[in-house]
Amino acid sequence: MSEQNTNYLLAIDQGTTSSRAILYNLDLNPFASDQQEFKQIFPQDGWVEHDANEIWYSVEATVKGAIKKADITTADIAAIGITNQRETITLWDRATGEPLHHAIVWQDRRTARYCAELKQKGLEEKVTAKTGLLLDPYFSGTKIKWLLDNVAGARDRAAKGELAIGTIDSWLIYRLTGGASHVTDATNASRTLLYNIHEGKWDHELLDLFDIPPALLPEVKDCAADFGTTDPDLFGTALPITGVAGDQHAASIGQACFEKGMIKSTYGTGCFAMMNVGDTPLASSNRLLSTLCYQLDGKPTYALEGSIYMAGATVQWLRDGLKIIESAPQVNEFAEQADETQSVYLVPGFVGLGAPYWDSDARGAIFGLTRNSGPNELAKAALESVGYQTRDLITAMNADFGDDVGVLRVDGGMTASDMTMQFLADICQIPVDRPQNLETTAKGAAYLAGLHVGLCPPPQDMMAKWELDQQFTPQQSADWAEKKYAGWQDAVSRTLSTHS
Ligand code: G3P
Repeated sequence: MSEQNTNYLLAIDQGTTSSRAILYNLDLNPFASDQQEFKQIFPQDGWVEHDANEIWYSVEATVKGAIKKADITTADIAAIGITNQRETITLWDRATGEPLHHAIVWQDRRTARYCAELKQKGLEEKVTAKTGLLLDPYFSGTKIKWLLDNVAGARDRAAKGELAIGTIDSWLIYRLTGGASHVTDATNASRTLLYNIHEGKWDHELLDLFDIPPALLPEVKDCAADFGTTDPDLFGTALPITGVAGDQHAASIGQACFEKGMIKSTYGTGCFAMMNVGDTPLASSNRLLSTLCYQLDGKPTYALEGSIYMAGATVQWLRDGLKIIESAPQVNEFAEQADETQSVYLVPGFVGLGAPYWDSDARGAIFGLTRNSGPNELAKAALESVGYQTRDLITAMNADFGDDVGVLRVDGGMTASDMTMQFLADICQIPVDRPQNLETTAKGAAYLAGLHVGLCPPPQDMMAKWELDQQFTPQQSADWAEKKYAGWQDAVSRTLSTHS
């Protein structure tokens, strides 16, 4: 396919299981893309790592692949936007650009004990007040400390300024710019446990607490800013990188959630619901996160977030672990044939449970099996677990925000399943809006890049351009939803590590 005489925006979407490069025209319609999966490394129970070099090579290859498929020249690209799996952290040598260890992935629980110790010392309140986050291994701060404590010589070299640390955006920009830029954006910084979301800067008290030298950290910028230009040797032309946001923040932008009270939920590896709460952070009383939604022109907009570790990953487990389906979409065929009279609940605590439970030691469980239960019922229970977990988050958000969520905008691969979306509307008892463009994360990154170079309109105009594909409205009664949800709550309570 060839489009000519115009400018394009390139989005790099570096996710938990694959890297993608997508080319957009200036109406933010995608017209060419390339994707590569990479290795998931599980060295021990609860540990998850990625090879940062492999991630970089997959990004380099997919950018080249997308440009080739589009049949354009690199010079036709106006700017690059990057969005990424958040919290995952890489430590590298500033001189050689070589990582000192595999990247430690957001799902990794190796610092659970350390987090528990800090909590026991009563430190969570202080950390939450500054960062909006909780003392959970999910976030980067304790992973960085682990790297400094466990990689031979790292602490000494870090103190001498020889090393750099970064979330995946930061790592990719370092490589893309040939080592010239060590930067990140405010949304990625807000997930590290080291960034004060009220003051908009790295917090020295927290750096002391986690024993992390400030010399390791990248400079923090707005989401639409100058992040550097690519090394011309890479793609033939130097391209400006002008947009960066963590994937869930980019999805909020791609979903045009630019007004207070708007909420989106993205179903990828995990599920992440994010509500725009305006220009003042909202402290959660219901175990949600208070975080950055985005930052433009030096002005932060805040969000409430609920993070669930397993959504699409539960379907992957049915495919790769249990091997009862051959492909992810097949889960729908199985679920549609399930026996309606059975109440099978699957609590996907494979790597612990995220919001609002935050239980690192919980593990997955299945309840309600009968002699008639089989692959169909497990498939249905897997899809329904996504709906139940979303209701957990919506309930907490309603309580924190003081007003009920009106409509839920959804995106991500799993939202292609009508059955799952209908169950979501039924169990949450709210309308679920699926947009025409399900790839809102990459779209958000392309938009940020285009905004900074003056090729995309301001946020208010983007809201008018958002297009609905289908609205799912509740077809079941509130009573039905209450009964089903009570069964879920019972199943979760029996799965928590505190259950005796
Ligand atoms: O916080 C983790 C999140 O950013 C990962 O997103 O889409 O790769 O599952 P995803």
